[in-house]
Amino acid sequence: MTRPVVTIEGLDRRLIVEPGEILLTALLSRGVRFAYSCQSGACGACKCRLVAGEVGTLTHSDGALSAAESRQGIILACRSQVQGDLTIRLLPAAGH
Ligand code: FES
Repeated sequence: MTRPVVTIEGLDRRLIVEPGEILLTALLSRGVRFAYSCQSGACGACKCRLVAGEVGTLTHSDGALSAAESRQGIILACRSQVQGDLTIRLLPAAGH
């Protein structure tokens, strides 16, 4: 099975990850500097923009990610499972 590739816009990084891997874990374990805190979908510190591709979404609090943000393509890296190739963009407002 082909492993998914995560492309990070602006950082010129492409990571080969395991299918089903949590996006935040995939980023941190491969040395990407990425803001996070709770790792449980409660704080919203790990927001980023999903530019292309799809992720599996695990449960999170509405306070961490609103429905409106979700519709705009914002995801929580700690609550997103990589299912295939995807492209993300870090959010300047989150301190990246
Ligand atoms: S690190 Fe807190 S919501 Fe992801």
